[in-house]
Amino acid sequence: MRERKRRKVMMEKVMVIGAGQMGSGIAQVCAQAGYHVLLNDLKEDFIERGLGIINKNLSRQVEKGRMNEEQKDQVLSNITASTTLNDASNVDIVIEAAVENMKVKTNIFAELDKIAPQHTILASNTSSLPITEIAAATNRPDQVIGMHFMNPVPVMKLVEIIRGLATADEVYKKIEEMTKTLNKIPVEVNDFPGFVSNRVLMPMINEAIYTLYEGVASKEAIDEVMKLGMNHPMGPLTLADFIGLDTCLYIMETLHEGFGDDKYRPCPLLRKYVKAGWLGRKAGRGFYEYN
Ligand code: CAA
Ligand code: NAD
Repeated sequence: MRERKRRKVMMEKVMVIGAGQMGSGIAQVCAQAGYHVLLNDLKEDFIERGLGIINKNLSRQVEKGRMNEEQKDQVLSNITASTTLNDASNVDIVIEAAVENMKVKTNIFAELDKIAPQHTILASNTSSLPITEIAAATNRPDQVIGMHFMNPVPVMKLVEIIRGLATADEVYKKIEEMTKTLNKIPVEVNDFPGFVSNRVLMPMINEAIYTLYEGVASKEAIDEVMKLGMNHPMGPLTLADFIGLDTCLYIMETLHEGFGDDKYRPCPLLRKYVKAGWLGRKAGRGFYEYN
């Protein structure tokens, strides 16, 4: 207990950039572990939506008797809304979970580098983009690291931790320790496109989309085969909708460009759905429709 406290003294204030499905989950688990969290997004509406997800998750914990109302309120009071990166001037770590786009991320990191104090660690929840390139947008590449949570964050145990070329050992150790305080299990991987998780997962999802595109089977049949035949909790098309089809496409493009190998070419059907705005569950429609 004392050690847990000591760790928190080292890193007490967390800023999470992006209040989407990942950012809201990361803010929730940090607030539940007792960190003070600033939840940042471009507009207040987006933060409200993220806080709504957190509220719903915590209410479910209360219903299940795992937490009382007072504890729920305590967790919520640990989270403050932020619509300006200037709020990074008073935090120990930033965890960026904005969209999976290198330009967006490097702009955010360059800005944060100007605002955040010297000791602040800048982490990215990127699914696939090179940490070394994100770090190069700052003057503190030794303090930049990948902290890749899995979706849904409150449920999934894994955090892939990715060192950039210049990431300091001390920074790696701090992030490893912080991950444990969130009741998650850190696994170290090197900085290659897609890391381990999405280098293995996303080509499987892309292949399932090709299988649909080529008319091998219906979407329901493809999902049933992988659920019942491989014991996956969700079929690959349901999982793609759950992750977000825009995110899936960005990851495939990163793999394709990063390795220069056509085996990673994104399926044209995936591109078409993204162009149509059928981004999956978060948009109400992807391979399936959602209320
Ligand atoms: N947020 C918070 N909690 C959630 C949740 C959500 N979105 N969805 C489900 N849960 C909780 C439920 O409350 C329930 O909790 P308890 O067991 O404590 O009661 C538990 O999860 C199980 O939920 P359900 O019984 O409703 O449904 P389920 O058994 O089908 O599980 C699931 C839901 C955990 C999402 C499961 O379907 C699953 O594991 N799916 C695969 C998820 C996966 O592969 N994630 C990785 C995606 S890839 C990624 O994240 C990396 C990337 O970069 C793209
Ligand atoms: P999302 O679309 O649900 O949310 C992204 C949020 O970032 C939006 O609310 C958007 O308004 C906000 N945003 C965009 N630009 C911003 C900026 N400049 N400043 C502040 N906020 C900004 O996306 P998501 O699924 O939460 O993914 C976020 C990140 O997490 C991506 O890098 C993604 O690859 C990664 N990730 C996603 C999953 C997944 O399963 N969806 C899993 C692990 C990692």
